[in-house]
Parts: sequence; C-alpha cells; structure tokens
Amino acid sequence: MKILMVCLGNICRSPLAEGILKSKLPQDFIIDSAGTISLHEGENPDKRAVATAKNHSVDISKQRSRPITTKDFEVFDKIYCMDLSVMEDVISLAKDDIHREKVSLFLEEAMIPGNNYEVFDPYWSEMDGFERVYKLLDEASENIKIKLTSNS
Ligand code: 4NP
Repeated sequence: MKILMVCLGNICRSPLAEGILKSKLPQDFIIDSAGTISLHEGENPDKRAVATAKNHSVDISKQRSRPITTKDFEVFDKIYCMDLSVMEDVISLAKDDIHREKVSLFLEEAMIPGNNYEVFDPYWSEMDGFERVYKLLDEASENIKIKLTSNS
C-alpha cells in the first residue's frame, strides 16, 4: 500500500503527517508527502514542524518539499489531503474517476469530525499551533492505522 499525504507547501502539515503515519505503520507501507505549490521545493520542513516532531521522537528533518505531479496518481493507492482547498487542487490534476477516487480528506478518512475535516494551516501560528496539528494528525493516523491493518 502506497500513501501520499498532501498540503499546500509540503513543509508543515504533510511532512508531519508523513512522519507520524510512517512511525505507526509496518514497513511494507510506503508513505510520502507533497505540496500543491512548488514555492518551497527542495527545502526541509519548517523548523517548527521539525522541532514539534522531535519532541514526540519522530524525525522529519531529512524530508524535502516537492510538488505533487500527475505521476503520483499512478504510483499511490491513496492520496490524503489536509484541507478542502488542497483537495480541490489535487482533484483538478486527476485524469479520470479511478484517479479521483484515490483522493480524500485525511481527517474524513480517519473519522475525526469538526471544521469540515480540515487540518488548519499552522504556518502563521506559533509553536502551540504546530503542537495542536501534531495531536490532530497523531489521532487521525492512529485511526487510519486501525482501518488499514485490521483486515490484513
Ligand atoms: P503547509 O503550510 O501547507 O502545511 O506546508 C504552508 C507552508 C507554506 C506556505 C503556506 C502554508 N506559504 O505560503 O509559503
């Protein structure tokens, strides 16, 4: 199973989601992340995201930002988006229904209700915003892990 986590810049939310989910799932799951914009391409995750993950013993420091491409729809089985605007942009890149069906909101898949199933963007907040995003993604990843590993 190959899973792609997607946010806007691929330096805050989706790198955290990638690191957290990777830390919970067996090694035969391939987890990656990407952004819908290429503004931060090649950069490591935001220092605040790296520090927050480190506080929870998850290392995301070596990840590098990259934009999502149409090839990702061939490679990945599931494409989890962090918010509705990201999902809209991702769906606009899908070439057919098979590719569109791979795309969903991470929190909706993880059955974490509230705020239209969106992971708020912590980019403009302080460290406490990153910690709240971490907690949300951690809870969601726990649910996704149960969902993806329960019938195998
Ligand atoms: P992310 O956060 O989508 O969670 O990686 C952001 C990162 C960068 C920007 C916005 C959001 N930016 O405008 O550069």
